[in-house]
Amino acid sequence: MCFDKLISKFFWISAATLFGACNGNNSAQSQMTGTDLSLKDAYESFFPIGVSVSGSELVQEGALIKTQFNSITPVNAMKMVNIHPEEHIYNWKEADSIVAFAKRNEMKIRGHTLLWHRQLPDWLFRNPDGTRAPRQLVMQRLKDHITTVVSRYKKQVYAWDVVNEAISDNPNEFYRSDPLFQVCGEEYLDSAFAWAHTADPEAVLFYNDYNEYKPLKRARIIRLITTLRNRGIPVHAAGLQAHWSIYEPSALDLEQTLEDFRSAGIPIQITELDVSIFPKDPRSAAAVQADTSRAFTAEKQKLQSAQYEQVFRLLRKYRQNITGVTFWNITDRRTWLDNFPVHGRKDYPLLFDSNMKPKPAFRKVCRFDD
Ligand code: XIL
Repeated sequence: MCFDKLISKFFWISAATLFGACNGNNSAQSQMTGTDLSLKDAYESFFPIGVSVSGSELVQEGALIKTQFNSITPVNAMKMVNIHPEEHIYNWKEADSIVAFAKRNEMKIRGHTLLWHRQLPDWLFRNPDGTRAPRQLVMQRLKDHITTVVSRYKKQVYAWDVVNEAISDNPNEFYRSDPLFQVCGEEYLDSAFAWAHTADPEAVLFYNDYNEYKPLKRARIIRLITTLRNRGIPVHAAGLQAHWSIYEPSALDLEQTLEDFRSAGIPIQITELDVSIFPKDPRSAAAVQADTSRAFTAEKQKLQSAQYEQVFRLLRKYRQNITGVTFWNITDRRTWLDNFPVHGRKDYPLLFDSNMKPKPAFRKVCRFDD
């Protein structure tokens, strides 16, 4: 080894000792991502770290994805409107390419999502002549869909979000009053999990939803999963989407959330993590103040780092009950929050900036002493 290399090796060993155990190797990785740290390495002994991706992002952002994450989820490719656009037509192309990428790079694959009230194809609820399809036909179509999709990725997709967002945020109704519920009634949940389990008995089956840090929604989700399980329905875990912000949840609310799932005996994954710079709850005083500016100011950057640090400290603390953490989108260059809930309002919710470089929050997540 030449002298230069020895010196540089010494430097990296010293730096690794200084900064703790989570530094990855320095060479190709640091050139590609601008960091010698890696999320998947830092959390190797805790849980897999995942990210949602589209097929085209695997080409443009493949290097970053490979060095930082060890699990992926198709962001849209497995949703019913995309993978099953017509009754007798399945479109496997994008989902297959994501699965192949994951296999090539030894990454886990989470399937998302078999049933959701959004991104459903119109044909599902229609007869060929355009009139409304009867319940029995819709149920048969759901069965065919779940059986076909889960079977195709059997032993490849290790976990499925089987049902997404079935519970209402409205205090006056338990189930969201969406077309699936209106046409099929609550039994579609039982059936969906049972069909998925039959198609791949080894897959880990999730009920996935958001706003668990709010007590009413959390209690309802825990009640639903417990009731289904008591009836013998194979619901193995809860997915907490975790579309959070720099203002919420508080450490107290998040810890209570993690504690409640743990004590109910329901393992969880964080399935769609992002930390918006805009408040989720427009009624809070902080929200009103913060909403006056759309800029990602130094102050917001600081709040975001602190929020990410706090979130991961608690996730590490509850590691026994957490089997994975997945980010929703890769970098601030493109996030679904640019168009939700306000169309065209740029957001900056992730750990990598628009140039794919790590943000201060990234270091807070990677470097820890506990
Ligand atoms: C979002 C995608 O990121 C967008 O590209 C798409 O236009 C809409 O869906 N909860 C979910 C995810 O379960 O599937 C959603 O993903 C975000 C909210």
